Amino acid sequence: KKVVLAYSGGLDTSIILKWLEDTYGCEIVTFTADLGQGEELAPAREKALKMGVKPDNIFIDDLREEFVRDFVFPMFRANTLYEGQYLLGTSIARPLIAKRQIEIANMVGADAVCHGATGKGNDQVRFEVSYYALKPDVKVIAPWREWEFEGRPDLIAYAKKHGIQIAQGKEQAAPFSIDANLLHTSSEGLALEDPDVEVPDIVSKRGDRRTITPEEAPDQAETVTLSFERGDLVAINGKPMKAHELLAELNRLGSKHGIGGLDLVENRYVGMKSRGYYETPGGTILWYGHRAIEQITLDRGAAHLKDELMPRYASLIYNGFWWTPERVMLQAAIDASQGSVAGDVKLKLYKGGVRTIGRSSPYSLYSKALVGFDEAGGYNQADAEGFIKLNALRLRILAERDKKRGKN
Ligand code: ARG
Ligand code: SIN
Repeated sequence: KKVVLAYSGGLDTSIILKWLEDTYGCEIVTFTADLGQGEELAPAREKALKMGVKPDNIFIDDLREEFVRDFVFPMFRANTLYEGQYLLGTSIARPLIAKRQIEIANMVGADAVCHGATGKGNDQVRFEVSYYALKPDVKVIAPWREWEFEGRPDLIAYAKKHGIQIAQGKEQAAPFSIDANLLHTSSEGLALEDPDVEVPDIVSKRGDRRTITPEEAPDQAETVTLSFERGDLVAINGKPMKAHELLAELNRLGSKHGIGGLDLVENRYVGMKSRGYYETPGGTILWYGHRAIEQITLDRGAAHLKDELMPRYASLIYNGFWWTPERVMLQAAIDASQGSVAGDVKLKLYKGGVRTIGRSSPYSLYSKALVGFDEAGGYNQADAEGFIKLNALRLRILAERDKKRGKN
């Protein structure tokens, strides 16, 4: 009877709005989230009004601070990468969008929710697993899996027939699909589908890109100081800011130096490989900075356990299992390691690269006296002999045995 639609105001979700009305004849509530995608949200309200949505049924929420503080930062405490490279910019936004959508559904008494993800990707899983976790009896409508349109031309024809405004330029022209928020922009599909062909300029040099290419970046390096507390970034160059402002500032710095562009073929949860181009300038800097501060503040055992848990944690986020007990358990373990992850990191940004050039912490575990060549510290070099011999004991026994067996 009432459905909350995740509505961007773009062509696809506008078509979905019309289709929902036609197909289900239900009252429609639109929800548009500001996650720092860098687009004006006011037009989304206008468009929804024009499509006949009641003013009271239009929700536009600024979720930027919650996104960075409660989702991005917790994820970066684990130095999270999916398949070694992907900083999960799209994946980490889905559980928040779903959460807010369900909150709105409960507020307005809606029994259904609807999203614009296709039936071939990860996003459908992330949205719907989150919906069900937060509202077990919710009805989910996934138009891309239900309607009879076959591809873009059908959609455009439907839009034209119903007088849905097709924005000139970007949408119609862009031969690829974009998802953007404060953490990243991802581009997939069509112009990118041959993984052996370099990402074309229409993608990597488009007007609203997040980062420039290293080739275009200035010849002058820039040093930036990041300050951390409890594993979270709290200031840049000594200036404290809110979480979402910090990430925006890192994006500015990273973009200027051509940092954070990534051409990746990844394994989707539904089983296929897909090729994407990601732009994550601020996130890339933050990832290096966080690792650098952990280098001096984390015990080896804690650091190595975190590194072992990380791929599990990354898969949970990639596959859409944020709202699960196992993700919460892993988060608790990760967070428990971050109490003394505090201090300053100096990074040099230059032509697409991030290099650590210094780190300091009031809680540093680094001891110059211990490691230095000419100082005794609390370390007796003679102790090392027995340490090494006992570590090698079983290898010596094995080697003796193999000698007897005549193999080497
Ligand atoms: N492959 C990325 C992920 O699964 C991005 C998906 C959304 N991207 C898009 N262009 N629609 O997280
Ligand atoms: C989509 O299918 O809507 C985008 C790609 C993905 O979710 O993996």
